[in-house]
Amino acid sequence: MIKVENVHKQFGAKNVLCGVDLEVRDGETLVIIGASGAGKSILLKTIVGLIKPDMGSVKIDDVDITKCSSLDLHKAQKKIGYVFQEAALFDSFNVFENVAFGLKNLTSLNEKEINQRVVQCLAMVGLEKIEHLKPSELSGGMKKRVGLARAVAYQPRYVLYDEPTAGLDPIMSDIINNLMINLRKYLQVTSIVVTHDIKSAYKIADRITMLCKGEMIFNGTPEETKHTKNEYVRQFVEGSSCGPINVDKTFGMGRI
Ligand SMILES: Nc1ncnc2c1ncn2[C@@H]1O[C@H](COP(=O)(O)OP(=O)(O)O)[C@@H](O)[C@H]1O
Ligand SMILES: [Mg+2]
Repeated sequence: MIKVENVHKQFGAKNVLCGVDLEVRDGETLVIIGASGAGKSILLKTIVGLIKPDMGSVKIDDVDITKCSSLDLHKAQKKIGYVFQEAALFDSFNVFENVAFGLKNLTSLNEKEINQRVVQCLAMVGLEKIEHLKPSELSGGMKKRVGLARAVAYQPRYVLYDEPTAGLDPIMSDIINNLMINLRKYLQVTSIVVTHDIKSAYKIADRITMLCKGEMIFNGTPEETKHTKNEYVRQFVEGSSCGPINVDKTFGMGRI
């Protein structure tokens, strides 16, 4: 189980996370929605131990990774696959080496098994025969999918996805949605998915939660989200520029 309690994070004078509480039960897919700049990526990076919060705790299977030894942090991180918002592939490695990275370092699979797993994971995200290419030779969507294949290749118990369908066409987005659903169904993967893609959220989520200015302001099932009276959530899921979430009124012509 992943349990986040009262997490605060400040950058300079800016409070990015202001007392976040979050619990993800085993086998569950939790979707986090929220406007750009709400703190979603910072929250995921805090959960995976890449950012240390100023206050609060992050427990991965009862180990508080904000206070444990670096050895225990490393053990906890081995249980988590992380799909970065911006793919974050190793530029000097080709696609095969990128996807095989965790398999070589975190598992005892032999070379043949690693080869098979890499091919299988790339096929799962709709990519074939591109093992020899470098990240610079891939489109944005392909990089994203290689990042996804890399994150799930060593079959981690938890997978954190940061905007996994952003920049993908609708068909590829649905392939990724089904991949996330199947990982939960067949491998009992527990997931946290940050997304702006409401259609995807409704399809994959057991629960949807909304982060607004560093605070969790909503938590409900997809059905409850669809029918909520919470104005912030309604504005977000309906994609409206009118509502409590401030948009820059001076943008373009401003008010007409
Ligand atoms: N390393 C950093 N230093 C200072 N501010 C940061 C840093 N990383 C993120 N921020 C700020 O934190 C806020 C939340 O960022 P982020 O979590 O990336 O938002 P999003 O919800 O869009 O993923 C933003 O205002 C961003 O500018
Ligand atoms: Mg982000």
